[in-house]
Amino acid sequence: MADKLFIFDTTLRDGEQSPGCSMNLPEKIEMAHQLERLGVDILEAGFPIASEGDFEAVKAVSAEIRRPIVAALARANEKDINRAWEALQGAALPRIHTFLATSDIHLQYKLHKTREEILQMISWAVGHAKSKCRDVEFSPEDAGRTDRSYLIECCHAAVEAGATVLNLPDTVGFCLEPEYEQMFRDVQTRVPGMDHVTLSTHTHDDLGMAVANTLAGIRGGARQVECTINGIGERAGNAALEEVVMTIHVRRDVLPVFTEIRTEELYASSRMLTRLTGVAVQRNKAIVGRNAFAHEAGIHQDGVLKNAITYEIISPKTVGMPSNAIVLGKHSGRHALAKRYEELGYQLTKPEVDRAYALFTQLADRKKNVYDEDLLGIMSDGFQHLPDTFALKLFQSVSSSDGRATATVELEKDGKTSHDSATGEGPCDAAFRVIDRITGLPGTVSDFSVHTVGPGTDGVAEVRIRAHFDGREFGGKCTSHNVVEAAARSYLQAANKAAYEQKRQEEARPVASASVHKNAAVDRLFPGGY
Ligand code: KIV
Ligand code: ZN
Repeated sequence: MADKLFIFDTTLRDGEQSPGCSMNLPEKIEMAHQLERLGVDILEAGFPIASEGDFEAVKAVSAEIRRPIVAALARANEKDINRAWEALQGAALPRIHTFLATSDIHLQYKLHKTREEILQMISWAVGHAKSKCRDVEFSPEDAGRTDRSYLIECCHAAVEAGATVLNLPDTVGFCLEPEYEQMFRDVQTRVPGMDHVTLSTHTHDDLGMAVANTLAGIRGGARQVECTINGIGERAGNAALEEVVMTIHVRRDVLPVFTEIRTEELYASSRMLTRLTGVAVQRNKAIVGRNAFAHEAGIHQDGVLKNAITYEIISPKTVGMPSNAIVLGKHSGRHALAKRYEELGYQLTKPEVDRAYALFTQLADRKKNVYDEDLLGIMSDGFQHLPDTFALKLFQSVSSSDGRATATVELEKDGKTSHDSATGEGPCDAAFRVIDRITGLPGTVSDFSVHTVGPGTDGVAEVRIRAHFDGREFGGKCTSHNVVEAAARSYLQAANKAAYEQKRQEEARPVASASVHKNAAVDRLFPGGY
C-alpha cells in the first residue's frame, strides 16, 4: 500500500526570499489561504527573525490558517528560535524549523566553527525548540555536500534532542539523483531512533534537477517534500510543487506514495502567485505554463481530437486549467463571471464582482471574443489594493523611426490636473520621464517585460515593470491594445505605490519619533518592498 506523502510548501519563505518575488502582508495572507485550499500539509510562512514583516506574516498566517501545520524558520540560536515561537503563538498546529550548516565548506568559510561545536549547537537548538514546541524540524543545511559520517552524527544529535522531522537539503542544487537517494537510505538505516522521525527532501534547481532529486529522495525513504508554487526560490528556485504532485499523480503505478493535494487548485495557485509577485512562468512550464496543453502540430491536433490520450498524459481539467474557449459573452451574468474568476484563482467579494462586471461588459462591447486572459487582464489592471495618488487622465505618444519620441501626459491628484510633455529615447522612455516630472518621483526601471495575452489578432499586450524609487523597488502591470500606453500605466502604478509609501512614512514621522517604530510600521506594510 502507498504511503501518504506530506507536502511542505515553502513559497512564502524560500520562494518569497528570492529576488522579485516579495509579497506584502495582505498578499501573503491571500496566498496562504489558497495554499490551504490546495491542501498542503505544512505551510512555511516565513523566517520571523529576518524582518518585522516576516514576523508579522508568520503571526498573521498562524492566526488565520487552521488546517495545515504552520512552520516558522529559525537559525540554531536562542534569539531566532524564541522569535519563531513568538510568531507561531496563534497557530493551531505550530512547527519550529531550525537549521544549521553542516558541510565543511560552510563550517570553514561561513561559520568558522569546528565539527564538535556544530554538534553541540544542534543538540542545544533542537532541545531548546523542543522545550517550546512539540513539532520540531531540523535541517542540516548543505547536507548534499556534507561528509556522510558527520551528517549521520548531526542527524543523530538532532533526533536525540527531539526532532520530529529531519530535512536533508541539497542547498546548492549539486546532487545527482543516485547520490541524493543514497543519502536518505544512509540516514534512515544508520541514525538510531528513526522510527518516529519523518525524512524530508529540500532541493534546489541549479542544475535543473530539483524535481528529479525530490523523487529520488522519496525512493530513498522521504515522506515529506519541500517545494514551492511555480518553483520559485533562491537562485534557480526550489522543486516546483505542481510538478512533484502531478508526477506522483500520473505515475502512481510505480511510485510508493500519494498526496492529498487537490490537483484542480494547482492552476489557480500558480496564477495567484504570478498575480501577486508579477513573476510569470515561462510558456512551456510543465503543468501550469500556457503551452502545457497546447497542441500545435497537425498530427498532434488530429490525434487529440480523436482521443486526447494520444498526446495528453494529464487532462487540463485535472490541474484546474480552464480551456481557452470563449467563456463568457456580453449576455453572461455576474454569477457566471464570479464563478469563472473563482476557477482562475480569485475569490471576489460582492463589490469586486460588481466592479469586475462593469469592466467586463465594457470589454465585451469592444471585443468580439472574451478569453480567460482578458478576464485576468481586468484583474491585474482594475484591482489594486492601494489607493492611487495619481490618476491617468490623458496619454499621447508620438515617435519617429530615428528613435526620437515625445509623450504627453495628464495626471490628476486630489482633484487637480497637471499636464506636461517630455522627450526620450523611444516612446516608453519619454512616457516614464514625463510621469517622473509630474509626480516629482524620479524612478529607474529595473525590469521590463511585454507579452501578448489572448489568442487572435485582437489580443492585448501585458506589460510588467519593476522600478526603483528612492532606493526601493515597486512593481506595476497593465494590459492594453497599445504597448506604450500599457507601459506608461504600469510605470504609473509603480510610482503610485512609491507615493503611497512616501505618504505613510511622512504620516508615521511625527507620532513615532524613534526611527525603529517608524520602520516597523513601514515594514509591516511593505515587507521587503513589493
Ligand atoms: O536550501 C536550504 O538549505 C534551506 C534551508 C533553510 C532548509 O532553505
Ligand atoms: Zn532552500
